[in-house]
Amino acid sequence: MKLLEGKVALVTGGGRGIGRGIVLSLAACGARVVINDLGAGLGGEGTDAAPAEEVLAAVKALGGEAVINGGSVASYADAQGMIDQARDTFGGLDIVVHAAGVLRDRMIFNMTEEEWDTVVAVHLKGLFNVLRPATAWMRQQKYGRIISLASGSAYGDAGQPNYAAAKAGIIGLSYSTANAMAKYNVTSNVVLPTGTTRMIDSKPESRAIFEETGKWPSEHAKGTPKDPDNVAPLVSFLASERAAAVNGQVFHSYGFGYTLVDQPRTLARLEGNTPWTPDALADAFERHMAADVPPRAAMPFGRDVDSLADSDWTETGDGKRYWIKTEKNR
Ligand SMILES: NC(=O)c1ccc[n+]([C@@H]2O[C@H](COP(=O)([O-])OP(=O)(O)OC[C@H]3O[C@@H](n4cnc5c(N)ncnc54)[C@H](O)[C@@H]3O)[C@@H](O)[C@H]2O)c1
Repeated sequence: MKLLEGKVALVTGGGRGIGRGIVLSLAACGARVVINDLGAGLGGEGTDAAPAEEVLAAVKALGGEAVINGGSVASYADAQGMIDQARDTFGGLDIVVHAAGVLRDRMIFNMTEEEWDTVVAVHLKGLFNVLRPATAWMRQQKYGRIISLASGSAYGDAGQPNYAAAKAGIIGLSYSTANAMAKYNVTSNVVLPTGTTRMIDSKPESRAIFEETGKWPSEHAKGTPKDPDNVAPLVSFLASERAAAVNGQVFHSYGFGYTLVDQPRTLARLEGNTPWTPDALADAFERHMAADVPPRAAMPFGRDVDSLADSDWTETGDGKRYWIKTEKNR
């Protein structure tokens, strides 16, 4: 039996990039899919039915079943319509993947209110918009799998304050949903994806590659560690019954590997037996804690695995390898 046989999935932003690869993987694993995509420009402008239609044709070509939804995740009513469409067309909804996204990059001191609102509306409010009706249904059904795409940018990309905040909000909303829905057999996990899509082509350094080679970085990515389709196997696994024990987690999909990301943990504490004064705290901080303050949240996120030595890894015997952080190598 296929991994997702009999399951019904909704993928927002399924018409392009990482979402497209996820739709095809879910369908190849046997799921029937509602492909939501507005066909928006990178900044969220305009609509275009063509990307979702192309993905629908690709699903059909591999013998799968899917339908298109052209609504906007930024609209509460449209998102309700996506859940209704899944239930009306396929009789249910088991899997929600939120991959829709837009960019409006600007430094915090230059950002307009409209740039802020647009990005937060699609990424963070968009997740709420689909989860509100989807979780109500999954709670009754007592089964569900939710996978939300956030980003390593959540940990502090200086040029993306709106996007970083929305993506960090997605992590918080996913943790909350995981805790609320665990007793209903519903899991909620986050993937921080990477993949050279048009989002990456929009970065200033990508133009230099285009000018040098005549091709955008996304056109070089197929089959390489930068291929956006490398994210999909992780999402399909998390969408399956075999991932029942994985809930409230964050994974970084990077190259041909998947990193399980640690949760924020307590690091050091100063404690008095009476309330502190600011001066006393400043003195104690300088004396005891200052040396233990870590560097600022790291960008680019997750690339530290590149510097591991071959001897740090354990060969798993099937051409793959495994590494875990231990007290020894912390
Ligand atoms: N590409 C990366 O390296 C990367 C890194 C970190 C996070 N991400 C995240 O992964 C997701 C997919 O990114 P991508 O690189 O494939 O981008 P993409 O631009 O190729 O695809 C995003 C899709 O979302 C759709 N969309 C935009 N607004 C919508 C709306 N309101 N309603 C429905 N659909 C809408 C677009 O039409 C587009 O097809 C996004 O959430 C993005 O933030 C990507």
